[in-house]
Amino acid sequence: MGKITLSVIKADIGGYVGHSSVHPEVLQRVKEVVEEAKGDGKIIDVSVLSCGDDIALVMTHTKGVDSPDIHELAWNAFVAGTEVSKKLKMYGAGQDLLSDAFSGNVKGMGPGVAEMEFVERKSEPVIVFFADKTSPSAWNLPLYEMFADPMNTAGLVIDPSMHDGFIFEVFDVYSGMSIQLKAPEELYDLLVFIGATSRYCVRAVYRKRDGEIAAVASTQKLSLMAGRYVGKDDPVLIVRCQSGFPAVGEALEPFARPWFVEGWMRGSHVGPLMPVSFAQAKPTRFDGPPRVIAAGYQICEGQLIGPNDLFDDPAFDYARQEASVMANLLRRQGIFEPHRLPPEEMEYTTLPKVLEKLKDRFKLVDEKKPKFSTEGEVAE
Ligand code: F6R
Ligand code: MG
Ligand code: MG
Repeated sequence: MGKITLSVIKADIGGYVGHSSVHPEVLQRVKEVVEEAKGDGKIIDVSVLSCGDDIALVMTHTKGVDSPDIHELAWNAFVAGTEVSKKLKMYGAGQDLLSDAFSGNVKGMGPGVAEMEFVERKSEPVIVFFADKTSPSAWNLPLYEMFADPMNTAGLVIDPSMHDGFIFEVFDVYSGMSIQLKAPEELYDLLVFIGATSRYCVRAVYRKRDGEIAAVASTQKLSLMAGRYVGKDDPVLIVRCQSGFPAVGEALEPFARPWFVEGWMRGSHVGPLMPVSFAQAKPTRFDGPPRVIAAGYQICEGQLIGPNDLFDDPAFDYARQEASVMANLLRRQGIFEPHRLPPEEMEYTTLPKVLEKLKDRFKLVDEKKPKFSTEGEVAE
């Protein structure tokens, strides 16, 4: 068998109830469309996942990344699902389908995409991570730990096939530019960028020894694409595991220590990322806290053997509890930062309106001091 492509394309086409999960009939309709395409031989295999109010199509095929056929298939499946979603008056029906007509590539149109092409190994274990109520930069920390932190990934030290390290491709969501940085040699440069999660996200990771693709994340920024807030860019991430890549347990390990991500309530709050089973991927507390599922597959001649629900393990119970404690600490802050995001990061904000309404009531406190505008710049 030659190269196969693994494409994960996801969208929020309506929530049940509010923004908390996907209605079974909507999911069923989406499944029908992709299963039919499988029957017609357009794709080798497909597995449909949901996390919170998002649906992900995990597909294998031989058409390469960015294939218009595959993107159109995903688009059509989401359009068909949207019809059911609209019929049931699901909340925000079709919210991620930003355009009425398909134009060859779903990037820039709303759905999130992570795709990779590779020659299937003797055994090909992969994990599809899928999160709700957060953004693609949520993957920066775990990708760093999986592929660059020997305290997480023992293989970086003791497996000769990983010991050369990995190359990170870092994407600037504002400029659309990307840069490749080597770990461990350029670790501190890498961290300058990927620690700045409001601007940079890891787009892909390659094994340095042979350039083999190791991980790919979706890096859409819906809020910027649409020029306004139309739904968050709840992300997906594909990680290849074992035999020269992180072991499954090394790829899952970062999630055992929850950390804070952006995207909780109204896309405007910070919250802990809670690793959950498929059944628990229903964020209802203050529309959260943000959730992540891990769907494991063994790929066999392009068939997706799985999904295996990898966070459905009591060993992650403690992380879930810890995330709840972290959630309590933040909820105590209510509408105050740092639970609420700083103004420029918020998906919703009334600040400009309130400033405009009250601008004449701001009085200069000290004539001799340089004057600053209400936005913080020095005024002329
Ligand atoms: C959506 C989300 C939710 C919504 C909130 C308000 O993914 O995270 O927290 O932002 O439920 O939704 P609207 O503005 O649609 O009433
Ligand atoms: Mg939604
Ligand atoms: Mg969502």
